[in-house]
Amino acid sequence: MLEVDRLEVAHADAVAVWDVSLTVRPRELVTVVGPNGAGKTTLIDAIAGLLPARAGTIRLDGRKLASVPPHQLCRHGLALVPEGRRLFPAMTVEENLEIGCYAPAARRRRGQSLERVYATFPVLRERRRTLAGSLSGGQQQMVAIGRALMAMPRLLLLDEPSLGLAPQIVDQVFQVVAGIHADGVAVLLVEQNIVQAFAIAARAYVLEQGRIVAEGAPSELARDARIREAYLGQQ
Ligand SMILES: Nc1ncnc2c1ncn2[C@@H]1O[C@H](COP(=O)(O)OP(=O)(O)O)[C@@H](O)[C@H]1O
Ligand SMILES: [Mg+2]
Repeated sequence: MLEVDRLEVAHADAVAVWDVSLTVRPRELVTVVGPNGAGKTTLIDAIAGLLPARAGTIRLDGRKLASVPPHQLCRHGLALVPEGRRLFPAMTVEENLEIGCYAPAARRRRGQSLERVYATFPVLRERRRTLAGSLSGGQQQMVAIGRALMAMPRLLLLDEPSLGLAPQIVDQVFQVVAGIHADGVAVLLVEQNIVQAFAIAARAYVLEQGRIVAEGAPSELARDARIREAYLGQQ
């Protein structure tokens, strides 16, 4: 459903993503792992239309995304959970969630979508009148994921949802992502947390200095001596 072909993305003149090709099939959970500064956010922001491609193409269901304005991408079934969550801290949980359903079809089913989000995250129902800025980091991440789900995406893009969270909360976030995938949503997850990302992904790409240096089933990649040494802390 998502095909990225020979993508190149730059910040001003500094190229941060070189010649990256990857695919996500319908209902597939794919991860892109790599260290800090590898280009993960640049890559996912380009897919979400927030940064222009300098070269290469991004297609969703065969349609080139360069021609779709970013605010309309949700109509085509794409939603992003950005790095650092980007909530409106002075707005309530429910107001933040409602920002996520600007596609007409999703907006018409807003009540139903809210119910689904609250069923997924019961704590958000309890706290729906609370200002987002006063929630814990884990709860804020749930709001960010819930906001993306309000658009009823077929492909969910997640940029390091575990960043800055306590280990126990990280486990919960990965369980939530696995649950969303089990409900039939395709997921592209970029992560530094390679152990947890490999545990839930069907396929993985390793990104280093803006380039894909390895790809395959997580179980195969985890047997690769160089990857074990670089990312899994094993000789
Ligand atoms: N807004 C920006 N302006 C200039 N350079 C940037 C900007 N954002 C990221 N970069 C650079 O692009 C490279 C990739 O960064 P990023 O995509 O944020 O990596 P990651 O998400 O894997 O940590 C880094 O060298 C970073 O310094
Ligand atoms: Mg990043």
